[in-house]
Amino acid sequence: MADQAFIQPTAKYRSDYQSPDFTITDLDLVFDLYDTATRVVANSKVIRLNEAATSLELDGDSLTLVRLQINGNDWQDYLEQDGKLLINNLPAQFDLLIETEINPEANTALEGLYKSGGAFCTQCEAEGFRRITYYQDRPDVLARFTTKVIADKAQYPFLLSNGNRIDGGELEGGRHWVQWQDPFPKPSYLFALVAGDFDVLRDSYKTVSGRDVALEIFVDKGNLDRAEYAMTSLINSMKWDEERFGLEYDLDIYMIVAVDFFNMGAMENKGLNVFNSKFVLANSKTATDTDYQGIEAVIGHEYFHNWTGNRVTCRDWFQLSLKEGLTVFRDQEFSSDLGSRPVNRINNVRIMRGPQFAEDRGPMAHPIRPEKVIEMNNFYTLTVYEKGSEVIRMMHTLLGEKNFQAGMKLYFERHDGTAATCDDFVAAMEDASGISLETFRRWYSQSGTPVVEVATQYLAEQKRYRVTVKQHTPATPDQAEKQPLHIPFDIELYDSKGGVIALEMDGKPVHSVLDVTEAEQVFEFENVGEAPVISMLREFSAPVVLKYDYTDEELIFLMVHARNEFARWDAGQILLAKYIKANVARSQQGEQFELPESVIDAFRGVLLDETLDPAFIAEMLTLPSENEVAGWYDIVDVDAINKVLSNVTTTLSNAMTDEFSAMYHSLNQGEYSIDHEAMAKRALRNTCLAYLAYTEQGDALVAKQYAESDNMTDTIAAMAAANDAQLPCRAVQMADFSEKWTHDGLVMDKWFVLQGKNPAENALANVRETMKHTAFDLKNPNRTRSLVASFCANNPVRFHAKDGSGYQFLTEILKALNTSNPQVASRLIEPFLKYRQYDEQRQALMRTELESLSQLDNLAKDLYEKVQKALDL
Ligand code: TRP
Ligand code: ZN
Repeated sequence: MADQAFIQPTAKYRSDYQSPDFTITDLDLVFDLYDTATRVVANSKVIRLNEAATSLELDGDSLTLVRLQINGNDWQDYLEQDGKLLINNLPAQFDLLIETEINPEANTALEGLYKSGGAFCTQCEAEGFRRITYYQDRPDVLARFTTKVIADKAQYPFLLSNGNRIDGGELEGGRHWVQWQDPFPKPSYLFALVAGDFDVLRDSYKTVSGRDVALEIFVDKGNLDRAEYAMTSLINSMKWDEERFGLEYDLDIYMIVAVDFFNMGAMENKGLNVFNSKFVLANSKTATDTDYQGIEAVIGHEYFHNWTGNRVTCRDWFQLSLKEGLTVFRDQEFSSDLGSRPVNRINNVRIMRGPQFAEDRGPMAHPIRPEKVIEMNNFYTLTVYEKGSEVIRMMHTLLGEKNFQAGMKLYFERHDGTAATCDDFVAAMEDASGISLETFRRWYSQSGTPVVEVATQYLAEQKRYRVTVKQHTPATPDQAEKQPLHIPFDIELYDSKGGVIALEMDGKPVHSVLDVTEAEQVFEFENVGEAPVISMLREFSAPVVLKYDYTDEELIFLMVHARNEFARWDAGQILLAKYIKANVARSQQGEQFELPESVIDAFRGVLLDETLDPAFIAEMLTLPSENEVAGWYDIVDVDAINKVLSNVTTTLSNAMTDEFSAMYHSLNQGEYSIDHEAMAKRALRNTCLAYLAYTEQGDALVAKQYAESDNMTDTIAAMAAANDAQLPCRAVQMADFSEKWTHDGLVMDKWFVLQGKNPAENALANVRETMKHTAFDLKNPNRTRSLVASFCANNPVRFHAKDGSGYQFLTEILKALNTSNPQVASRLIEPFLKYRQYDEQRQALMRTELESLSQLDNLAKDLYEKVQKALDL
């Protein structure tokens, strides 16, 4: 199909769901792979479900139809238009043969069949299968797939697809073939094919019931020494899912292929995961501790999808959070069970309070189960994934582990092998636990972040403590009216010695998780002997904004005495927030920065507390990001926020130089290892370095660490410190690093990130220069994100330069990617969508850019949807 004139994209609504008129029970695929002209023969067994239907409508995109047959006969009665193939006058049951031709080499969108480096690979979620053949490309059509792959043997010795290898052979002209069969019926989005030449890391796993599973990780030649950690993580995932969820793997083989060109993190295709190489490849020389943690989480995430996503899939794409929210919850629990639970929780909460709350405030705000979608790719969001996971976590909090697991069991009993809805999941949880989730269900349909305002009162004579909780959710562009939600509100009361005061109401003990379900509720606790200090929203028990007037004394008390580490961290964050806000206001009035001695001492106390996990101390000493702080304001003053955060950093750094220095030197490590203890020490040591960078010894210390480092974590920590503090040693390090790693895009990404986040005044000129680097490639999503997204999304002062130069730069990039890779463009445009949160001058400049984009006559659906919403058209 040739490129078409611009058709106004149309929206789909959740309420319009209709079950399919026909289903496909079996699909036999044959791929004859060639770079520019691949032939795909698709043989389907089709059954009519709706007796009134005589026409079958198939989805297709960028396909050339070569042949169409029904029951072995050429079929003329069809219509090919607007990305659909309509086949008419069909019997109740028939064999359908469709042959199409596609061009993998021209496919820069990285959806459907494309080439990554020298290999063929596929990405079908959400709607990429329609770029391979005409098909009912919707998740509620589940078929048994057989796939034969034919290709040149020398260039593509490995031919892979879903399921088990059933046959193979040699052909003339140096070609060969392999045939695969997947015994589990699946929707088209879980299809995968890979053909290429790789090094393979092999291992095996014996499941609890004693079945042997072959494990294979395919990486580019020469990268075998970087696949070890991914394999360990895979084995850990398989074991963890058996132990915690009672879920076992179901095929004889599990394959993972790492590719360099990939739009997202990874994809859970049945038995054949395709991964962004960023989430597979690691060794101590090339990967940071954060990279290792990312690999463990993503390997786990894709593996856990085998049950939550593949065995039970989604009825329609509005139900995406059914698999994603649940699977993120599972991967978070996996990382927490294997590593530090508090540190994992802190980092997940940072994502919620930063980028997810920002999404809720913007023009794309949507419930975790969206109601209206133009481009499905636009809904793989922090809301669906991370807030979706928080919604699952709240059910876990309300039900407890035992009831929650009973709910999971019932969910699989009811829905294994089918396509289900979010409602089905909640119903299983309710039925297994006997706990009503009627009000709770609103979390699925309501967008926006609820604000919970708390007031407390100690009634000394009655020894009572009154807690008044009010909730309201501000209107969002998609939804004006909001209802009260069921908020699990976890609290604890402390006496002045730090002892826990038991919660009592009506003479009976009450659970620490209060059920907040109304707009306003009063909880009155009895037998409270003294005015307590209250800890609230413990473990971030609900994804809400908490408003309460804490005194400094109470917060400093909680930083020391709260029983759980998350609550202590949170108290520290609230204390920092108070002074960041106060100083932003001062700065806007032209007043001096101020931070009380008592606040500094509280953080000094944390740093010196030898009973604490060093990784936790590092989190305590990490300030909220500029973007998170921006979210506290209706109108964001980027310069003031940047200045205040720098002032907090330098003030702590000056006041605690000796302590930071002593800690830094005491954490000097011997042998490098990647266990939690070693990583925790590196984390704290590098946090100290980031502060020390602003002192007199900064340049020498950072230069020394860079020179002596034997691992990427310490190397990048030194470079980041030099970059942030603009130290003299920065230039030498940047030059040295780029020379050493030019050949390795994945490692260079770290360097591109630093260029993007460079605080220097000429940052944009630098970024433009950096785009000419031999390792840079706008067609590679990892490279583009590293450089462009880090500048536009994470360097607010330079991106929001008053002359609009940052905005013009982003528009140039978006226009280039609009045609080559709209999915990546659509993620990069995010900073523009928040334009209403800036001053008038910047608003006008950003609006102009959005308008110029809206005028493009070939604007991709992905960008169209966001631009329209941002401009409120
Ligand atoms: N299902 C994938 C995951 O969460 C997400 C994904 C991978 C994806 N590749 C994609 C979504 C491409 C849309 C487009 O693990
Ligand atoms: Zn997922």
